[in-house]
Order: sequence, then C-alpha cells, then structure tokens
Amino acid sequence: MKRAYNFNAGPSALPLPVLKRAQEELLNFQNTGMSVMELSHRSKEYDAVHNSAKQRLKKLMNIPDTHDVLFLQGGASLQFSMVPMNLLGKDQVANYVLTGSWSEKALKEAKKIGKTHIAASSKEANYTYIPRLEDIQLSENAAYLHITSNNTIFGTQWREFPNLPVDLIADMSSDILSREINVGQFALIYAGAQKNLGPSGVTVVIIRNDLLERIPDNLPTMLDYRTHSSKNSLYNTPPTFAIYMLSLVLEWVEEEGGVKAIEARNKEKAAVVYEAIDASNGFYAPHAEKDSRSLMNVTFRLPNEELTKKFLEEAKEKGFVGLAGHRSVGGCRASIYNAVPLEACEALAEFMNDFYRRFS
Ligand SMILES: Cc1ncc(COP(=O)(O)O)c(C=O)c1O
Repeated sequence: MKRAYNFNAGPSALPLPVLKRAQEELLNFQNTGMSVMELSHRSKEYDAVHNSAKQRLKKLMNIPDTHDVLFLQGGASLQFSMVPMNLLGKDQVANYVLTGSWSEKALKEAKKIGKTHIAASSKEANYTYIPRLEDIQLSENAAYLHITSNNTIFGTQWREFPNLPVDLIADMSSDILSREINVGQFALIYAGAQKNLGPSGVTVVIIRNDLLERIPDNLPTMLDYRTHSSKNSLYNTPPTFAIYMLSLVLEWVEEEGGVKAIEARNKEKAAVVYEAIDASNGFYAPHAEKDSRSLMNVTFRLPNEELTKKFLEEAKEKGFVGLAGHRSVGGCRASIYNAVPLEACEALAEFMNDFYRRFS
C-alpha cells in the first residue's frame, strides 16, 4: 500500500502508527468485544480513554493546574462565538489582532455579542506579516486580546506572543502542539483537532479556571464553559472516537520525544521547503514575509496561472496531495503539520527544484 504525500490543510495527515493502532483495536477494544465507538461514554473503559487524553495533553503542553482542558464540539468556529459570549462583559471591549481570514471570522462573531476593537492588523498588506508586538494598541476596558497564533490560509505565524496587561486568548487550531509554548501566558487557548491533534470532531479548549467566574448566567447550557468544566467534558455525549484518536496521537507525540523533539523536526521540515523557495530566484514567490513565515503552512505563488496549474497537475501525478492554495488566495500551499514526515518535505522540495529547472 502506498500512502500519499499528504499536504492537506485540515483535516490532514495523521501518524501512520496511530492509524495502524486504531485499525488493530477497531473491532475489539481492550477485550470489550466492541470498538471504542460502540462503548458507552459512561463506561470505565471510555472513561480511561477520556482521562488519558486529558492527562497526556496536560503533560505534553506543561499545562499548569490553574488551567483546565475541555473537549468540545462545534469546531474552532464555535469558539469564535463562545469566547465573547462567556468572556466579554457588558461594558468591556473585545480586542482582536487581525492576521487573516480566521481572525476576521472571530471578530465578526464577537461583534454580534458586544463592543470590539481592532488592536492591530496586517490586512492592508494582504496579511503577509504578523504585526509587531509594540504596534498592538489595546482599547480601554479590554475584556481580552484575541490572536490567531498560526494563519493557516496566509502562512504566517506568531514567533513571540504579546505580554500585555490583558487576558490573552489564542486560536491555535493550526499550530497547537507544534512547538513549546508557555501555556501560563494565555487565559484561553482553543484548537480544532483536525490538524495536529487528531481527526475532526473534537475541539480542545484550555481555559484558566478563574475565567469561569466571569461568565454570565443567561447562556444556553451547552455554550457555557462551566457546563463542560464542571462535568469533565461529559455533560452530554462527547465525540468519543475523536477523543480516542486524540489520545493515540498524544501517545505518539510522547514516543517521538515530546513537543521539543516535534518542534525541532518541524523546523527542519519547514527549512527544507523554504529552501526550495529561496533557491528559486523568485520563481516560487512566498506569500509571507521572512520573519513571519509559518512552520506549518508554506504558501507561495508561481509566475502565472498556467504554471501554477501545470505544477499542481504534475504534483498530483507524483502523489503529492493538497498543494493548491486556499480558494480565497490562490497559489500553492504545503501544510506540513506534525504528522507529515520529513521525507515528504524532502520529496516536495526535490520536485519543486526539478520543476523550477524545467520551467524557469
Ligand atoms: C486558524 C483556524 N481557525 C479556525 C478554523 C476553523 O476551524 P473549524 O473548521 O474547526 O471550525 C480553522 C480551520 O482551518 C483554522 O485554520
């Protein structure tokens, strides 16, 4: 069986050992005579899976006891609404840094809930860079400052995070667990699982416990973080199979040497692809400015549409999947999340070098 070189932006590549383990355990999970999907979410077997996913994430990300981990549904997109519903007080202002389409969407939802302010933006430059920390201007009465740590569509990523007297909230959907971060610096982190954590269907929320005290009492039960925090994310039926897959992915990260080792490999992988871009004399034009380049999504353009089409066609024939840029920006994008092996990046770089030699 030949596995594709999978550069999909999400859902995206999963580690092969994880898929094999899931396959082995599919019909008879731990001698229960059934798959994980068929277990009651109140059974002791599922409970162990659920808690192991939570504990492993806490350990791998070094999450302090001040913070809780929640497993929710509705994707990162529902967090665009839940964050302001829960945390934007009546007389407060929600602050957003705009670094791409996802932060725009987050802001759009916050506007429906209360007052908002754009604390910094790179929209005027078509989101080619991350604003400098010193250019972030908070409003009065800021409820929180929201950032998107990695911009999946434009291929930019924050290197350092703002250290301002305000609760920092980050959408880390496309770079959670890809590098070491200080979780204590954030009031809340959220991420859809389908890039670095597992399959789609579960959204991880890491929330500082004291934020729960700010939540108004009139929210629908399922949209109130307290519901999920007080019931260990088992208030209703959780996405059990997705959480099981998450626990297997986390086990795999541990076996690979933890987040530090994953980060080193991610840097090596990204360097290989950016090297092909930089060695092409502008044939592959990167979207992101150099110091804002993402280690997760490498975005670039070829000299014209015809060559882009040819590049994508040839890439497809060679087994590279998912290289077309997001429909809103065009060009090409290679998403090289944790589970994409170095060899896939090397094969892509080799193909890019060869294509450049033939068509430049
Ligand atoms: C940075 C970022 N935020 C949010 C989303 C939306 O996530 P979901 O599809 O889980 O709602 C995505 C999806 O690609 C993303 O990349």
